[in-house]
Amino acid sequence: MNRETNRPEPTIEVGQHFKVKFVDLTHTGQGVAKISGKNSKGVEYQNFPVFVPLATIGDQGMIELTQIKKDYAIGKFVKLFPDKKSKDHVPIRCKHYPDCGGCNIMHLSYQAQCDFKTQMVKRTLERIGKITDVEVKPIIGMENPWYYRNKVQVPFGERRFKTFGGFYRLNTHEIIPLEECHIQSTEMTEIIKFIKNLFNEFKIKGYDEKKHRGEIRHVLIRESSKTKEIMVVLVCLSDIKDKLNGLIGKLIRRHPRISSIYLNINKDRTNEVLGEETLLLFGKEAIEDELLRIQFNISPKSFFQVNPVQTEVLYSKVLDFGKFTKNDNVIDAYCGIGTISLVVAPHVKHVYGVEVVEDAIKDAKGNASHNQITNVTFVCNEAEKQIGLWHQEGIKADAIIVDPPRKGCDIKLLETIVEMKISKLIYVSCDPATLARDLKYLINHGFAIEEVQPVDMFPQTFHVECVVLMSRVID
Ligand SMILES: C[S@@+](CC[C@H](N)C(=O)[O-])C[C@H]1O[C@@H](n2cnc3c(N)ncnc32)[C@H](O)[C@@H]1O
Repeated sequence: MNRETNRPEPTIEVGQHFKVKFVDLTHTGQGVAKISGKNSKGVEYQNFPVFVPLATIGDQGMIELTQIKKDYAIGKFVKLFPDKKSKDHVPIRCKHYPDCGGCNIMHLSYQAQCDFKTQMVKRTLERIGKITDVEVKPIIGMENPWYYRNKVQVPFGERRFKTFGGFYRLNTHEIIPLEECHIQSTEMTEIIKFIKNLFNEFKIKGYDEKKHRGEIRHVLIRESSKTKEIMVVLVCLSDIKDKLNGLIGKLIRRHPRISSIYLNINKDRTNEVLGEETLLLFGKEAIEDELLRIQFNISPKSFFQVNPVQTEVLYSKVLDFGKFTKNDNVIDAYCGIGTISLVVAPHVKHVYGVEVVEDAIKDAKGNASHNQITNVTFVCNEAEKQIGLWHQEGIKADAIIVDPPRKGCDIKLLETIVEMKISKLIYVSCDPATLARDLKYLINHGFAIEEVQPVDMFPQTFHVECVVLMSRVID
């Protein structure tokens, strides 16, 4: 008997085959089937869960067990019965799926992807936050859930004396040569392929991670959704700018929308893509993009949301939830380059933005002056420290927006929000699990949830963004 689950130990074995019907999806979008039976020693197992990639609810097929864990098994399809395939199981568009780790639910119809994400938020709030009495609104999906990404970073390597670039095979650093991608813009894919040819023509060697040798490590491309400008960053192991001269002319003649080309030097043995030193080789320092009529200059290292269409949807929800007035002081914690702050500023008295990355705060200040927005204060500090300082200074916030990284809010930040008696809180989250944990704390300390709205920022992947409105109900 398994002491934790009180379930009989199912001594099932790797390699066993089972005929199954899928009844659910895991939070990473794998199909869940339940197996029951008796092993060779006569021990019975009932409804033991098996997770299978590329399956969806309703599919039926033959599976083989590939790994057995304590409370579940992992399997793979031996055969998906063609006449028992779910209507939500759609043909796959991309030849690299699922080997390239970029997409993981492309085999689901877009409606099924949206339903899966709405359900995932609901279940996570219930399981981790014990929040059962709020309505989770259906996720706001995209009209066209393809070619939405405005940024791509492609690793380069060398095989049989040829330089090539692509995506890492799922959970490895083996590069799959890029032929197509259906979530980034087609021009970015064409640029990658053309640059690869130029690297071979100009004898620029791909990077060998194991030997820490070679020249080109990554190519990073960003594209503005509004101005259509494109930035290319060539990340190299050393300063090879002289070798890049001929290549640049050919590149901009073929792709005239390229308005900046940078050389970034990354000398370290590291998984970080960008190194410290960045040299402008051609064109403008930054590309300009726009969100809700506010302009943003984006330089190679700036954080900028990757799905511009849905970022406007997300930020409009923040404005909608905020119902801000010209008397409001608002804190934007984890403000990045100030995108939310600057979108909110025209509607309120003052915005206080805090962010831990110095470059981001520099960009935020630059973006404020570029848009002639003066009612914002940006500070570089840890949000959990700075909010306490603002509290001590006597700043009274009418609302706070938090948009933390995946690990969620620091407990000190939550404690200070409670202490400051801020009446309205808007939580923008990219991880439902840490969101649920933080909401539970806030509910236990006087807040109530008013609305939960997931927004699909990352179609074809299991990632889900969510915006939650809370108000203070107990003093
Ligand atoms: C999800 S991003 C949000 C950025 C911004 N709100 C936006 O929409 O573009 C989270 C940000 O939190 C910053 N960050 C991480 N830990 C922090 C901390 N302890 N205090 C302040 N900022 C932090 C990261 O550098 C990152 O810019």
